[in-house]
Amino acid sequence: MNHKRLIDRIYSVKLLLSIFSLSFSWCTHPFRRHAFPLQERTIGRTFPCLFQKSSRDIKKGRWSKSPASYTSSSDDEFKKWIYGELVEEAGSALVEEFGSDLFHKISACITRWRQRYRDGDGSALLWKRLFKRDRVVKEIIESLPIVHAMDAYFLEKNNHNVTIIDLCSGKGYLSMLLSEYLPHEKVRKLVLVDKAWPMCFAEPRPHHINWDHIYGNYTIDNGEKEASYFSIWPIPLHTSKQDLKSPSTMRQLKIRFSGTDEAIFILAVHLCGTLSIQAVKLFHELESAQGLILKPCCLPGMVHSKRQPTFHIDKYGFPTADVCAPGYWKNKEWEGPPRWHLEKKFHIWSHHLHQGMKQDASNIQTRLVEVPVQTNGGFQNTFLFAEKQPTTSTMWEVIPDRAK
Ligand SMILES: C[S@@+](CC[C@H](N)C(=O)[O-])C[C@H]1O[C@@H](n2cnc3c(N)ncnc32)[C@H](O)[C@@H]1O
Repeated sequence: MNHKRLIDRIYSVKLLLSIFSLSFSWCTHPFRRHAFPLQERTIGRTFPCLFQKSSRDIKKGRWSKSPASYTSSSDDEFKKWIYGELVEEAGSALVEEFGSDLFHKISACITRWRQRYRDGDGSALLWKRLFKRDRVVKEIIESLPIVHAMDAYFLEKNNHNVTIIDLCSGKGYLSMLLSEYLPHEKVRKLVLVDKAWPMCFAEPRPHHINWDHIYGNYTIDNGEKEASYFSIWPIPLHTSKQDLKSPSTMRQLKIRFSGTDEAIFILAVHLCGTLSIQAVKLFHELESAQGLILKPCCLPGMVHSKRQPTFHIDKYGFPTADVCAPGYWKNKEWEGPPRWHLEKKFHIWSHHLHQGMKQDASNIQTRLVEVPVQTNGGFQNTFLFAEKQPTTSTMWEVIPDRAK
């Protein structure tokens, strides 16, 4: 092959390659993909990266199609949809136990969250960030016995100065629900206590819980005026950054909530390890605390049994070895023995917390109840209720008398 023919060959191969690449990009352009589904499927299987949409595209696409987004459904449609999701996820036994009316009322409350974030610039984004379907549905179903009991509590309670403390609140879905659900003339405020909130008046950092849904501003009157979400929750939501394991926090909470005319009700949902003990201690030590509902979560880590032989809830003591267990959560993955191994210890742990709760039995009414709210087969279904005398009969009437 002489020199000239070789160059011709190279040029013709290059031409062929460019024709192929041009036609390939023409066929796979997003606007034409629907016309060439076969190419996309076959080539896509071999070279998936060519067809992968960016995660932003995917999220954008998914959200605009989600029944929760403002563009895809009206409020009525959203309410029906979220009711269906809650009922389906809860299953017929829970719907029968709590009644469909409770599910309807909760759906109306979540629809009001959605309405709240619709107006104002940037609020649609805020709603998109806040409303994670799986998270909201799971947290609400796991809180059903609490919402049910609080509803009944306020049927009888006629003092108008109750403050609810939501310990380890996370973003505060339970408090947000109760703000919409409970009679606002009877509840003064909900205090969301968590160590992951930013400090008061501080600029939130990436590792903090974002509090825009509580304190964020939005504009009204065509951008003329600024308003704050803080002022439009039916029962005000306040955040409080506190480390419940620190002795000074317990002292401060006692100072802050003692000696006022406030009656305190403590909610403690999904408290990991020794945080459950702290919740019970706070309930005992805070004179103004009238009620406590505790739903314990993970067991205390092995480190406690190496440090001390006994846990104490005031005068009640129990061996750490009975309840401490290996394993921990890392990036939402469980690292440790299969979780079902821990079921027996979890029941022992709940039993000890219950004993610790009722040590002054003459003064405190308590109940340990199993409600199968973990619909995916989980075993953390224990709820511990406590109320100091005088107790509220309407609440105790609706708390099921059912233990393991
Ligand atoms: C499992 S989440 C529970 C959130 C929410 N209550 C729920 O039901 O989903 C645990 C929360 O406890 C908070 N937390 C962990 N240790 C804490 C501590 N020492 N003091 C206060 N909050 C703590 C975390 O920041 C997190 O938001």
